[in-house]
Amino acid sequence: MTAATGARSATGPGRHLLGIRGLSRDALVALLRSADACLDRSGEPWRVRPGSALLGKRVATLFHEDSTRTRVSFTLAARSQGADVLDVSASASSLSKGESTSDTARVIASMGVDGLIVRARAAGTPGVLARARADVAPRCALLNAGDGRHEHPTQALGDALVIAHSLDRASFDFAGLRVVIVGDVLNSRVARSNVLSLTTLGAEVVLVGPALLVPDRLAGALGVRVSRDFDAELERADVAMMLRIQRERGGGTLMGSVRDYRIGYALTAARASRMKPGAIVMHPGPVNRGVEIDPSVADGGRSVILRQVSAGVAARAGTLNTLLKDGDHAHG
Ligand code: NCD
Repeated sequence: MTAATGARSATGPGRHLLGIRGLSRDALVALLRSADACLDRSGEPWRVRPGSALLGKRVATLFHEDSTRTRVSFTLAARSQGADVLDVSASASSLSKGESTSDTARVIASMGVDGLIVRARAAGTPGVLARARADVAPRCALLNAGDGRHEHPTQALGDALVIAHSLDRASFDFAGLRVVIVGDVLNSRVARSNVLSLTTLGAEVVLVGPALLVPDRLAGALGVRVSRDFDAELERADVAMMLRIQRERGGGTLMGSVRDYRIGYALTAARASRMKPGAIVMHPGPVNRGVEIDPSVADGGRSVILRQVSAGVAARAGTLNTLLKDGDHAHG
């Protein structure tokens, strides 16, 4: 079984991180502590602490969707802990010859790779691959680097690290914190993984945006509140997490005009000035400046956007250290 089902802890060879859903609070905090151990906050920007836990390990990145930062981040993370990394991008592999993702994953796993990092267009692909490679390479761990609109678990881990350190919650107890997640929630795997992680850690999460991008049904599906009143929610928030409109997934037509969207839901300089003292501004990137957030806010004193990038590397290093560590040879 996988870590994502909650049936086992997220440790040891052959285990996977397919999503935040199903992780117990203890399993989640264990991953965060392992990530935290890789984070060097002695200066700005934060950096990843080099380690040797992955010496002799081989990790492959298999990305079927455009990505710069997540692929680079996983590569830096794996190398920082001593692993060899090979990149099997879609255009350079047999995928362009019609081979199925599942067959490509089985082939790579059979070459003795210890970890396979997958970004996929379709939700659920990493889980399908985890089952497909089980017979050929039972000890190869699967890491979800973002699958469709489903989950992006390592982004949520990095974001939780940033919240913990920026708001003095180093114990990862987020009780009493209010987080607003604003924008194209419907299409966002980052939002989904963050809702699951932040509520597991005790935060109150409110989803904010127009009805087409934040349908009421998300409240029931994710167990959080939905609101259309950004100004009212923002005044009470400790964290404003802004999301890009995912035009490639149809978000552009659902948002209406940019002008109207900005009136209701952009984090403008005027809005940011009314936030609580100490409240922070987050964004997973890529940022569309002047659409969901003003440039002066993205670069301003409340912004922790660059910390999210650095913490993301540590989150991936910690996850790889946890999933690939030797000692427990039970199969995933
Ligand atoms: C996000 C993603 O790919 O889901 N970006 C990221 O991982 N840095 C969010 C986005 O694309 O808007």
